[in-house]
Amino acid sequence: MSTVVKAAGTPTSAKAQAGEIVVSSVGKSYGEGQFVKEVVKDCSFTIERGKLTVMIGPSGCGKSTLIRLLAGFEKPTSGSIKINGKPVTGPGKDRLVLFQESALFPWMTTYDNIMYGPRARGEDTKEARSLAEMLLDKVGLRAFRKKYPTQLSGGMQRRAELARAMINNPEVMILDEPFRGLDAMSKELMWEYYSRLYEESGRTNFFITTDIDEAIFLADRLLIMTNVPTQVRAVVEIDIPRPRDLVSLVDDDRANEVKMEALSLLHEEAMKSFAGGSKAAADFIEAYSKRLRTKKE
Ligand SMILES: Nc1ncnc2c1ncn2[C@@H]1O[C@H](COP(=O)(O)OP(=O)(O)OP(=O)(O)O)[C@@H](O)[C@H]1O
Ligand SMILES: [Mg+2]
Repeated sequence: MSTVVKAAGTPTSAKAQAGEIVVSSVGKSYGEGQFVKEVVKDCSFTIERGKLTVMIGPSGCGKSTLIRLLAGFEKPTSGSIKINGKPVTGPGKDRLVLFQESALFPWMTTYDNIMYGPRARGEDTKEARSLAEMLLDKVGLRAFRKKYPTQLSGGMQRRAELARAMINNPEVMILDEPFRGLDAMSKELMWEYYSRLYEESGRTNFFITTDIDEAIFLADRLLIMTNVPTQVRAVVEIDIPRPRDLVSLVDDDRANEVKMEALSLLHEEAMKSFAGGSKAAADFIEAYSKRLRTKKE
């Protein structure tokens, strides 16, 4: 293992800070008896305050399950999750979760969708309205303020959702593959919009993805997850200065080093998920791992 990748370990969090999330030895299983399925196993990590932590792992490894636990929609089978030092016992307005699926109300315009949170709290104030205007500008949707979600492209819908989430000013933003399914160009544009919003907010962000380029462009810290039942396989600090730009990242040695390390770990984990217990696949994984080890020596 190179110097850029640290083995995962139990967090040694001293004092909880605002927006800090500490996940300690969390396990989550579904079903009972012979039908029990362990999805998360002895999983520990810390999401630091004000940082953008990205979690990457093979499809189906248990990322969204972890999000539901962090959001407080479900309870862990074992272990604990603390936000600002307090155990998560249910949903809270300190956290805002953006799920994989679109969450815009189809019967509301872009502007009304963005204003939904403040209005639901009875806060249709001058401040909220000017914040909505500013966010419309920041996500490039000023000209589309009166359009309904079906009149927006996929990328525009995601931008409207970002603005709708950010107007609520949560301590922690949790995003579960928000740009999945977008074409490559729209995705790259979203990375720029989103990272700008993040950099300006200084808020704690936790972002889930299966896309390594997205992960490296966005992350301060990258958590690489194992196949199901998932836990942290490695933690990578991505100390590339911000604001980042996509073109110069292509030739950035540090970015490429992280990418190769992460890809080889992810490949091993993805192969395990495809193997599904087959002897031939297990032999292949073993051979592939040996090849990687030989290459590094
Ligand atoms: N309520 C549930 N009951 C039983 N099994 C579940 C439940 N929710 C999730 N699972 C199982 O847990 C595993 C992980 O699912 P999860 O959605 O967390 O994966 P993921 O990493 O988010 O995948 P993707 O990248 O495709 O979104 C899957 O095998 C899924 O079938
Ligand atoms: Mg998921």
